[in-house]
Amino acid sequence: MIISLCACSSAAAQNTAQPASTPEVTPALTDAEPVPAAAKAPQENKSKTIIVYFSRTGEQYNVGVIEKGNTAIVVDMIAEATGADLYEILPADDHYPMTYNALIDVALQEQRDHARPDIAEELPDLSGYDTIFFGSPVWWGDWPMIYYTFFESVPLSGKTLIPFTTHAGSGLSGFDRSLAAQYPDCTVAKGLAVAGTDAQNHQDKVQTAVTNWLTELGF
Ligand SMILES: Cc1cc2nc3c(=O)[nH]c(=O)nc-3n(C[C@H](O)[C@H](O)[C@H](O)COP(=O)(O)O)c2cc1C
Repeated sequence: MIISLCACSSAAAQNTAQPASTPEVTPALTDAEPVPAAAKAPQENKSKTIIVYFSRTGEQYNVGVIEKGNTAIVVDMIAEATGADLYEILPADDHYPMTYNALIDVALQEQRDHARPDIAEELPDLSGYDTIFFGSPVWWGDWPMIYYTFFESVPLSGKTLIPFTTHAGSGLSGFDRSLAAQYPDCTVAKGLAVAGTDAQNHQDKVQTAVTNWLTELGF
C-alpha cells in the first residue's frame, strides 16, 4: 500500500510563461449545478479518509512554470483539515511534456486513443477507508486518462466518494456524475471546483472555499 502522509507546503507561482491558449472544453458545468439525488454529505465525519490525486508541475495554464501542482495545493489544504492519508497517482512512463502546449497535445491524443497509461506505484488498498477524495485537474473536459486506469483497477463499494478539480474554466466538469457511473455502489458527495490560478495565486480565497466545503460535508 503506497500511502504517504501530508507534507504541506505551498509553492509560489512563477509567472514566467503564458500559454497561448486553453483547450476547447466540453460544455462547462457550473459549480452550482445540483449534485445527483444519491449525493449526500456525511453528517458527522469520524471516518477514515484518504485523498487520491493527480497533479502536474511544469508549465500550466495561466500560472507559468509551477513547482507545486494546482491540485496538489488544494490536496494539502484538505489533508491539513481532515488528517487524511494521501495517494498520488503517478505515471509509470512519465512522458508528459513540461511545456503546456506540448502537454495538451499529448493529453488530447491519449483521450482520442482511450489510453490507459500505467500507474507507477502499487495501487492502494482502500478497504480500510470510508471516505475517499478524488482530486484532479480537468484535462480536455474530462479526467486525465490515467485516472481511468485507476478506476478500472480499483473496485470500490460502500464508500463515500468526494471529487474536486482544479481547472481553467470548466468547473467540476461532471466529475461527480462520472464517479457515480464508475462506482455505482458508492455514494458521491458534493464536489468542489477551484480555479488553477486561484490555487497558485489566491490561496486565502481557496482556503476559505475549502474550509466552507469541508464544513458542509461534515468535517
Ligand atoms: C492537458 C490539459 C488539458 C486541460 N484541459 C482543460 C479543460 O478542458 N478545461 C479547463 O477548465 N482546464 C483545462 N486545463 C487546465 C487545467 O485543468 C488546470 O491548469 C489545472 O489547475 C492543472 O492542475 P495541476 O497543476 O494540478 O495539474 C487543461 C490543462 C492541461 C495541461
